[in-house]
Amino acid sequence: MRILVTGGSGYIGSHTTVQLVAAGHEVVIADDFSRSKRSVLGRLSELCGAPVECHAIDLTDREATRQLFEQGSFEAVMHFAGLKAVGESVAMPLEYYANNLGLTLSVLAAMRAAGVTRLVFSSSATVYGENASVPMRENMSTSATNPYGWTKVMQEQVLRDLALAAPDLRIALLRYFNPVGAHPSGLIGEDPHGVPNNLMPLLAQIAVGQRDHLSLFGRDYPTPDGTARRDYLHVEDLAAGHIAALNVLGSREEAVSVWNLGTGMPTSVLELVAAFAEASGRVIPTVDAPRRPGDIADSYADPSKAQTELGWKAARTIQDMCADTWRWQSQNPTGYPDE
Ligand code: WQD
Repeated sequence: MRILVTGGSGYIGSHTTVQLVAAGHEVVIADDFSRSKRSVLGRLSELCGAPVECHAIDLTDREATRQLFEQGSFEAVMHFAGLKAVGESVAMPLEYYANNLGLTLSVLAAMRAAGVTRLVFSSSATVYGENASVPMRENMSTSATNPYGWTKVMQEQVLRDLALAAPDLRIALLRYFNPVGAHPSGLIGEDPHGVPNNLMPLLAQIAVGQRDHLSLFGRDYPTPDGTARRDYLHVEDLAAGHIAALNVLGSREEAVSVWNLGTGMPTSVLELVAAFAEASGRVIPTVDAPRRPGDIADSYADPSKAQTELGWKAARTIQDMCADTWRWQSQNPTGYPDE
């Protein structure tokens, strides 16, 4: 299929692009490069065996987006584009609502005008909110504790309401748990814009000497070692989940399907620190610090729905996630080259 991948130069989008091409799909990337570098395109060409068509575009520009679709002949959309830093969203709520909702409304309007009916949407386990029991299941209620999370909750609602008005649509809402890791070649990986918020890129930057220590945000959680637990998922498994969702979309009865993409296995902060030290052979100094506002003790998936309905199950281990992250970081100590 000819597929538009919005945000395709980003972390999840780039890894999914490689797997889509390997699966025989034709990929077109649309990205504004506000949080990513154009140099990723050269890496994608290398991994895909040919250049990937890319349009630098502001997808909140409805006319430009409509024209992209009018000329694009797309058969499906994978929608990754959006801002995703929780802390930043608290400081800049208007930018987050305008950008994340604006992008999606613009892409959806262009899809409708062009008759594109297949959409895989990048959602997040953050929509389970801070009071969810574990393991999280797709039928649980959604809420958020920050503007970023609310944009995901709201985008899911927009998609559900649109599907009621346009039942020809087939939409997959994929709720990611904690994506980490990198392509085993070390050519592409996570290259956070500015100071990373997330644990794994921080560990990688400490190991490679970009930072000197990790602040442990709370050691008094009700967990075995007192540190919070998350469901870390290898980005290669996550990308495979997108291919699996695309493959079943056409045969789904329901207009909207929701799937958790997680391993179902909780890993604590201290366990990940130890695993990364092992994989990198480097010491990871830590300093105890207060809990981070909004953090929850436990977040991990019940992944059984995706296993049953998509035939998808995460295969890679925490050790794989750390080894692949380390290979990417040590080969690219400061991330992608500028331009
Ligand atoms: C993991 C654990 C921290 C940094 C976030 C978003 C979520 C999703 C994934 C987009 C927590 C601890 C972290 C540090 C630490 N993003 N930590 N010191 O918070 O589970 O999820 O990223 O969809 O929406 O909320 O991931 O990697 O930030 O934190 O102790 O310097 O590591 O407290 O327990 P999180 P994270």
